[in-house]
Amino acid sequence: MQRILIIGATSAIAEAVARQYAGRGASLYLLARDTERLTGLTADLKIRGASAVWHAAFDANDFERHEAILDCAIAEMGGVDVAMIAHGTLGDQKACERSFDLTLRELNTNAISVMSLLTHLANRLEAKRHGTIAVISSVAGDRGRQSNYVYGAAKGAVSIFLQGLRNRLCKSGVHVLTIKPGVVDTPMTASFKKGLLWAQPETVARGILKAIDGQRNEVYLPFFWRFIMMIIRSIPEAVFKRASL
Ligand SMILES: NC(=O)c1ccc[n+]([C@@H]2O[C@H](COP(=O)([O-])OP(=O)(O)OC[C@H]3O[C@@H](n4cnc5c(N)ncnc54)[C@H](OP(=O)(O)O)[C@@H]3O)[C@@H](O)[C@H]2O)c1
Repeated sequence: MQRILIIGATSAIAEAVARQYAGRGASLYLLARDTERLTGLTADLKIRGASAVWHAAFDANDFERHEAILDCAIAEMGGVDVAMIAHGTLGDQKACERSFDLTLRELNTNAISVMSLLTHLANRLEAKRHGTIAVISSVAGDRGRQSNYVYGAAKGAVSIFLQGLRNRLCKSGVHVLTIKPGVVDTPMTASFKKGLLWAQPETVARGILKAIDGQRNEVYLPFFWRFIMMIIRSIPEAVFKRASL
């Protein structure tokens, strides 16, 4: 029976991942801000077949509590096989351009909090020489664009952090997965007009489980984003800087 820790568990993508693990009979520990939603999700996952479900309140920006919360979760489950980090905010880029306080808040939520969690998780999994760390980054971290470069900078930093962590943890047999979704129909993107490239959280969740099972290093979801981003990354900066993206 797999022991799954999900941080940011009320995210639409994380919920879909949790439902799929519940269907496999896994035990789950859920961390998120909204404890009312966590209670509902816990009941739902038990009905779907989870062996056991625990939850606790967690605010990504309360860095001082990260270590204690993780220790508590890992002790309750008797270890951890998969730890997934899913929380995030798609901040208001224009507002960030006017306020560095806001920019800092976005960077804290989307990058620094993730690095704090990864630091504590990595040490624990490395000591046990076991487990998978999976983090939802984004295609937005592959190249900076005027429309979302604060969010993109945070995700890019997380992706680079994960590359280094993977290189370090490879020796201890700990698997590190970077998840790069394209555009997904979730509350985060509720105000966006949807089109052909959009995916549902369930599709992305299936891709996440497959990538974890297959011990992949990095996965674009859906797969075609790998090719889209290959093209976007190959555009010379002299051309890219003039584009309205
Ligand atoms: N949707 C997309 O198109 C897309 C594309 C690429 C990557 N991603 C990434 O996928 C991940 C999941 O997002 P989603 O699309 O599933 O969106 P979502 O449903 O809006 O989920 C975002 C989650 O982050 C949580 N969160 C935000 N700030 C937090 C904080 N300070 N402490 C704890 N939790 C916090 C939210 O909790 P509350 O409910 O308490 O606010 C919510 O559960 C994110 O990392 C996002 O950046 C999404």
